Amino acid sequence: MTNWNQLHGDAFQDKRVLVTGGAGFIGSHLTEALLTLGANVVVIDDLSGGDVANFEPFGPAAGDRFRFIEASILDTDVLADATADCDVVLHQAALGSVPRSVEQPELYTQVNVTGTLNVLEAARNANVPRVVFAASSSAYGDSETLPKIETMPANAKSPYAATKLAGEHLLSAYAGCYDIDTASLRYFNIFGPRQNANSAYAAVIAAFAKALLEGQRPTIFGDGEQSRDFTFVHNAVHANLLAARSTTPIAGRVINVACAQRVTVNHLAKLMAELLGRPELTPIHADERAGDVKHSLADLTVAQDALQYEPIVAFDDGLAATVQWYEQESGQESGQENRKAVK
Ligand SMILES: NC(=O)c1ccc[n+]([C@@H]2O[C@H](COP(=O)([O-])OP(=O)(O)OC[C@H]3O[C@@H](n4cnc5c(N)ncnc54)[C@H](O)[C@@H]3O)[C@@H](O)[C@H]2O)c1
Repeated sequence: MTNWNQLHGDAFQDKRVLVTGGAGFIGSHLTEALLTLGANVVVIDDLSGGDVANFEPFGPAAGDRFRFIEASILDTDVLADATADCDVVLHQAALGSVPRSVEQPELYTQVNVTGTLNVLEAARNANVPRVVFAASSSAYGDSETLPKIETMPANAKSPYAATKLAGEHLLSAYAGCYDIDTASLRYFNIFGPRQNANSAYAAVIAAFAKALLEGQRPTIFGDGEQSRDFTFVHNAVHANLLAARSTTPIAGRVINVACAQRVTVNHLAKLMAELLGRPELTPIHADERAGDVKHSLADLTVAQDALQYEPIVAFDDGLAATVQWYEQESGQESGQENRKAVK
């Protein structure tokens, strides 16, 4: 659905890119786009949250241009090997769930903060010119001001958000202290094919797809009037590629990556049930979760100025493609007619 060659031409031809967390949801889409663009891609992933199935359809087919290293970013020797001769590092590896971070703050700090430091050190030692970091909109906390602008004070409401903020500060410190350029992309609720639905901590669109395809009513935590700037994964990939090939230094800046469109969780549940042909599966409401924020919406001015970023896939199109993917994965095709009607 996205023509990467049209968007990025030969900017990545024969470039060597390290994608940490490349067996995960976003990392695998980055890897796929980079391989399409003629890059050599090294993936390091410990498979704690990812799966080789995420890159199997395109990784091995790329032959020598694709290398997978099953290891942790806490292993500095392996990282040194993985970063050698790289033109850019796209650092996606992390533990990603807000509620799980509330249960395991130490583990989150180790992987997300020490792990990020390790990636930066490896990049510095290998003279990699740029590192791009997967930061998070959770940095904005629950301030009621919308849209979220990068200059607003950060306000971590969970250990996960705190680790991601620490990562941003490390990226900015490295840009300031060493001969390395960095960027922190604050992702807003990324969704799309391959997002893990089989976890107690699954993101909302993946969890809704799984419930609806199993004929269950989806569970909403809270009243469902919370809203999110749901962003199709190709938009996050596009922003990473723009940051990776920027000809001007990004100098550790923090940059929102989103669609700048707000959708409530109630509306999302309704849309997805319609797309899957199960409008009778109305949501069940459970207690709000600790650390969850009420509303989220990005301002994209910095992304436009610094990266010339504009969303390339709208929410509705991304949602239809995502629902279709989960449907195919589950071996069902029930919602096809409804999808046409809703579109
Ligand atoms: N999905 C979103 O909406 C969202 C929003 C904001 C930020 N992010 C960030 O984007 C990045 C990618 O997220 P995702 O949604 O693709 O999640 P994901 O869990 O699918 O991908 C993360 C990958 O990192 C790997 N990983 C975890 N610990 C590791 C370690 N110690 N060493 C090596 N690999 C390790 C996992 O196995 C997994 O493949 C993460 O840094 C996440 O914090 C995601």
